[in-house]
Amino acid sequence: MNKRSLGNTGFEVSEIGLGAWQIGADWGVDVPIKTALEALHVAADAGVNFIDTADVYGAGRSEKIIGEFIKERSDRIIVATKMGRATSAWNDSYEEIAKAAELSCNRLGVSSLDLVQLHCIPEETLHNLQAFENLEKIKQEGLIKNYGVSVETIEEGIFCIENSSASSLQVIFNIFRQRVVKDLLNIASSNNVGIIARVPLASGLLTGKFSKEHQFAERDHRNFNSDGQLFNVGETFAGVPFDLGIEFANEVEGILSKELNEATLAQKSLRWILDHDEISTVIPGATTSKQAAQNAEVSAMNSISRKAYADLKFLYDEKIDSSVRGRY
Ligand SMILES: NC(=O)c1ccc[n+]([C@@H]2O[C@H](COP(=O)([O-])OP(=O)(O)OC[C@H]3O[C@@H](n4cnc5c(N)ncnc54)[C@H](OP(=O)(O)O)[C@@H]3O)[C@@H](O)[C@H]2O)c1
Repeated sequence: MNKRSLGNTGFEVSEIGLGAWQIGADWGVDVPIKTALEALHVAADAGVNFIDTADVYGAGRSEKIIGEFIKERSDRIIVATKMGRATSAWNDSYEEIAKAAELSCNRLGVSSLDLVQLHCIPEETLHNLQAFENLEKIKQEGLIKNYGVSVETIEEGIFCIENSSASSLQVIFNIFRQRVVKDLLNIASSNNVGIIARVPLASGLLTGKFSKEHQFAERDHRNFNSDGQLFNVGETFAGVPFDLGIEFANEVEGILSKELNEATLAQKSLRWILDHDEISTVIPGATTSKQAAQNAEVSAMNSISRKAYADLKFLYDEKIDSSVRGRY
């Protein structure tokens, strides 16, 4: 497993990480604790040392399982969590941020958080910069080691780079969301801000495994948020309408058919992300240890050819970009 630097944190993180929203059981399937722990161990055994979670995932379930998991490991696992969406009462005061950090520490069973990310907080709150001042203070006091921001828009990302000392930015980045390449990657890397790529498989569309008839479980956001009914539509299928996303995924599959031999479409899609050197780590979510293992294999794979890369860019510019909904 290759490692990359995560901004100015001093962490060398595995270029394939693991997204732990699923093990919070928010995707309609109650991933049993045993299965979740198995997936985490399989990923770590394959060299994954970076896990992304949030206090809100399963109302703390995801963090608690990860806490159990890190107790069982002797190797160093870096855990990035998030705050800002667990309660509607969250605000950017010192007390609120310190309280949220303490609660995450308790669930994870650690005395200090490796990385805490503001979790897509309202733009006005981001702009008044108070959250950053308080995070900095709490960092000096030792409850957190680093802080970063998970953002919805490229503009928010640039704002954080220019106005805060955030170490990392988490952004939606995948073959269906290519604008990031031109507008954010360069400025982030020249300011030594690590980029964490989320929703890398467009919530599974870029695995090619769904048909238009596919029914998602009732409590799965791919069922109840497919058009942004509850939160930013970009977090579900990267903002692309489901039926259209299936057609785009077929076209992507065609372009990548001669690439990387036996690799699956999911693996090729993750490889496309890693081919951008400015990315520190990509965090596919996984519901099974098989998915986690297949995703970890991507680090050892060759790059996508320049020709296929250019064809995917053309497909994005011509067809996909105008179909992406939501703040971006
Ligand atoms: N606002 C935020 O900060 C925010 C928002 C969204 C996500 N995130 C973070 O980013 C992580 C990744 O994003 P995501 O989980 O939403 O989307 P994603 O990684 O694009 O898609 C995950 C889904 O893809 C499928 N999958 C994964 N690996 C596979 C494989 N090898 N073969 C076949 N299918 C595979 C699984 O679908 P099935 O479930 O159908 O098996 C899985 O649930 C999250 O877990 C979370 O940590 C953060």
